[in-house]
Amino acid sequence: MELRTVWWEDNAVCLIDQRKLPHIVEVVRCTDLDAVAFAIRSMQVRGAPAIGCTAAYGMALVAQRSNANTPAALLTELEQAKRTLDAQRPTAVNLAWATSRMVRQAHALLNEDVTMMKTALLAEAEAIFAEDLAMCHAIGDHGAPLIPPRGHVLTHCNAGGLATAGYGTALAPIRTAFAQGRPIHVFVDETRPFLQGARLTAWELLQAGIPQTLITDNMAAFMMQRGQIDCVIVGADRIAANGDVANKIGTYGLAILARYHNIPFYVAAPYSTIDLNTASGADIPIEERDPNEVTRIAGVAIAPDGVPAAHPAFDVTPHELITAIITERGVVRPPFVAALRQLESKQ
Ligand code: MRU
Repeated sequence: MELRTVWWEDNAVCLIDQRKLPHIVEVVRCTDLDAVAFAIRSMQVRGAPAIGCTAAYGMALVAQRSNANTPAALLTELEQAKRTLDAQRPTAVNLAWATSRMVRQAHALLNEDVTMMKTALLAEAEAIFAEDLAMCHAIGDHGAPLIPPRGHVLTHCNAGGLATAGYGTALAPIRTAFAQGRPIHVFVDETRPFLQGARLTAWELLQAGIPQTLITDNMAAFMMQRGQIDCVIVGADRIAANGDVANKIGTYGLAILARYHNIPFYVAAPYSTIDLNTASGADIPIEERDPNEVTRIAGVAIAPDGVPAAHPAFDVTPHELITAIITERGVVRPPFVAALRQLESKQ
């Protein structure tokens, strides 16, 4: 079964509320820009490609609801909507990538009438979604052969169907290898503080029937030391031109552990996550979230009231620690600067 994380229905952007999973599967209907912005900021929808798809549908929603009577006026509204959406989460480049593509499309349609523009913008959002799904399957095809024969893979956060248009990025090679009948066992980091691993990845893998073991984040080192992990595959929120990767907080630590234990460390991401305009990881903005997400789990306090806490939501893994980056265009290995540039011309 392919999950549908976000979709367009009856003039609304519909989402599965990922804050409520795994116990409650609830659909949120966003009927205006504020609701889409809130869904992204509050993480009703999360995961870089899924945020991009949602933002694209959000732009289409703004167009459908617009009273603009000239294409130029509609374009101005869309540019404003892009600024609003881009500001919701700064690290994942797919968000601004998708809104930029929608604005470019609006520019290209300036000679058409407003009705035609609205239709074409919705079609563009649907195309972004469909392309993302196809890219995930291609990532699966390129990545599955990299999984060592025993098939023990550690993953962090959720880079699965819920984080994309479907099928996932880090989970794509795993799903493809499993579908090929290969032995696969996934070690799922619970991923504090938001628990995307425990709540979302574990749920997805259960649905897919893929064998797994849920571990707390601080168990990874010991699992590696005992020889239980054959490779690590994670997703990415932004890949800089030199191959540095921003991904969920905790990813950097895993990469260091993998290097120490001589275990391959793979990053799986669509080409839209590569940001050649960002020279290195030092230039990637890291989202700081509410410390209450650290001191509370599902609204229940787990720390003394008033204790100061920090919540950087992402970290940067230096490119030296990355064995290869798996994209829909192929597998990229060091030296990354040249390899990522070459990928640009490869469709
Ligand atoms: O804060 P989140 O849940 O949006 O963070 C998600 C991640 O870090 C994922 O690994 C990344 O976006 C890739 S999803 C295919």
